[in-house]
Amino acid sequence: MKDTLDQASGRITTQQYWEAGWRDAALPGPLDPVHGSYFSRLLHRCFKEALARQGTGNRRFIEIGCGTSHWLPYFCNEFGFTVSGIDYSPTGCANSREILRRAGCAGDIREGDMFAPPPQWLSHFDVVGSFGLVEHFKHTAAAVAACATYLRPGGCMITLVPTMRGLPGLAYRLARRAVYDTHVPLGIETLAQAHRQAGLEVASCRYLLGLPGVLGEFDTDEKPLSVRGMIKRISRGYWWLEERGLGVPPNRYTSPYALCIATKPVA
Ligand SMILES: C[S@@+](CC[C@H](N)C(=O)[O-])C[C@H]1O[C@@H](n2cnc3c(N)ncnc32)[C@H](O)[C@@H]1O
Repeated sequence: MKDTLDQASGRITTQQYWEAGWRDAALPGPLDPVHGSYFSRLLHRCFKEALARQGTGNRRFIEIGCGTSHWLPYFCNEFGFTVSGIDYSPTGCANSREILRRAGCAGDIREGDMFAPPPQWLSHFDVVGSFGLVEHFKHTAAAVAACATYLRPGGCMITLVPTMRGLPGLAYRLARRAVYDTHVPLGIETLAQAHRQAGLEVASCRYLLGLPGVLGEFDTDEKPLSVRGMIKRISRGYWWLEERGLGVPPNRYTSPYALCIATKPVA
């Protein structure tokens, strides 16, 4: 069974890979859509628009691949969802439970393979999100289709991926080759096509940010005078300009992220 799934989806990473990574990971702080980084605020705007288009039925949210996630408390606190998550890394799941607890949110986090959903979670959720997941499979459409099994007809799918193409891809290839090798580079055409192949209707698919920032995207703590602190300040400086319309428009060559919003047709 597992071999069949591996072949169908073309998994590039393993459960052991993520488990080892999450064991040493610091827990991320909350995503602040008001005072946080430009990227946090930009994403918040995109999600708000997408969910407003969805109407009022947004009660149940699930994150697929939710290990050590700061997204679940965000969707719980900002939009009032009842949140759930699935991940095959036990430590990733334990971290997510702790992150939810610290944020004062209840949530149902289950340890398991996304390709084998608990039966009661099939077609159960109003919104399904994945953030940094489907690019770890050679067959993007198979990964998106697996996520779509959790979605109710008429529900909304949110997929965020790092592009790993163009300038950001080159930067990762040179600086973090091992990380680069766990990703399939994805542009918006390929990402949208994968959603269509998975039976979804694409509402929008766009690049986010004009330039890669490496460190400045989220609200992590870096010592101001460290190399990481400097890089973060440079990224933030650039995005300050971008937010005021003075940056590079998002595009296939330099944008670090792509976001696809899709819906599951009502039969
Ligand atoms: C890049 S991490 C993203 C974590 C989280 N979504 C975030 O944005 O912070 C990818 C996650 O997907 C999980 N994952 C990968 N393949 C999976 C599978 N087949 N079933 C369940 N979880 C999986 C990994 O364990 C890992 O926690």
